[in-house]
Amino acid sequence: MTHKVIEKAKVMGQEQLSPTVRLLEVEATAIAASARPGHFANVRVSYHAAPLLRRPFGVAGVDKERGTFSMIYRIIGEGTKMLAAAKKGDVLDIVGPLGNGFDLDCARPLIVGGGLGLAPLLYLSQVLKRADVLMGGRSADELFWRHLFAEKAEKIFLTTDDGSLGTQGTVLALLPRLLAEGGYDRVFVCGPVPMMKAAAAACIKAGVPCQVSLEKYMACGLGACLSCACTIKGKRAKVCQDGPVFWAEEVEEW
Ligand code: FES
Repeated sequence: MTHKVIEKAKVMGQEQLSPTVRLLEVEATAIAASARPGHFANVRVSYHAAPLLRRPFGVAGVDKERGTFSMIYRIIGEGTKMLAAAKKGDVLDIVGPLGNGFDLDCARPLIVGGGLGLAPLLYLSQVLKRADVLMGGRSADELFWRHLFAEKAEKIFLTTDDGSLGTQGTVLALLPRLLAEGGYDRVFVCGPVPMMKAAAAACIKAGVPCQVSLEKYMACGLGACLSCACTIKGKRAKVCQDGPVFWAEEVEEW
C-alpha cells in the first residue's frame, strides 16, 4: 500500500509533445519520493469554476533528486484546457501516489503500449532500464513517444495502422513473433482497450505473464464513487483502488 498525500505542487514547466499532448512537470517531493511505476495522481484543475473534480493522470516519470514528477495528458475538455494554461511557478493541488503499481519482479520484460497508455509505461521504462518496447499508433505522427523512450529502452519496435512508420498494422502484427522469439518473462501493457485485450490474449496464449494497466473513467479516484468498476476474477473491483494494474488473465470486464 502506498502512503498517499495531498501536496501543493509547483509547476516546473510544460512541454508540447504534439498539437494536443502536453508533458507537465511538477515539484512534489513527497509524491515523487514514493511513486512507483503504475501509480497515478489526482490533480485538481480548478478551485472556483467547474470542473471541480480532480483529474487522474498516470505518473510518467520521476526525478527523485529534484523532487519532481511528470504527467502526460491530452487536451480534450475544459479540465485539461485549464491544466494546459498552468504556468511555471503556479501551484496545483495533487493527491498521490494512488493505486497499485506494476510487479517488477522479472528479468526480461517487454513493454507494449499505444496512445496515452504509453505515459505510465514511460516511467516503467525509466525504472526497468533497458526493457524492449513495442508501441503502436495510427500513423507516424502519433508515435512522437519514440523520442521519449529512446534513452530508456533497449530496443523499440514500431507499428502504424497506415504503414507510415515501422511495421504496418497494430502491435499484434509483431507481438506473437516477439513473444515466441524474444525470451520475455513478463509483458506490461497499457493503451486502448481493444489493443490491451488482444495483447493480453496473445500473452496468455504464449504463456508469458502479462500485466495490464486499465484506463477507466474515474470521478473520485479514491474508491468512493464506483465510476471505475470492472470485474476481476468474478468479483466487482475498482480500477482506482484495486488497480489500475491487474494480471491479464484475471480481467473479465475491461
Ligand atoms: Fe471513484 Fe474509482 S473513481 S471509485
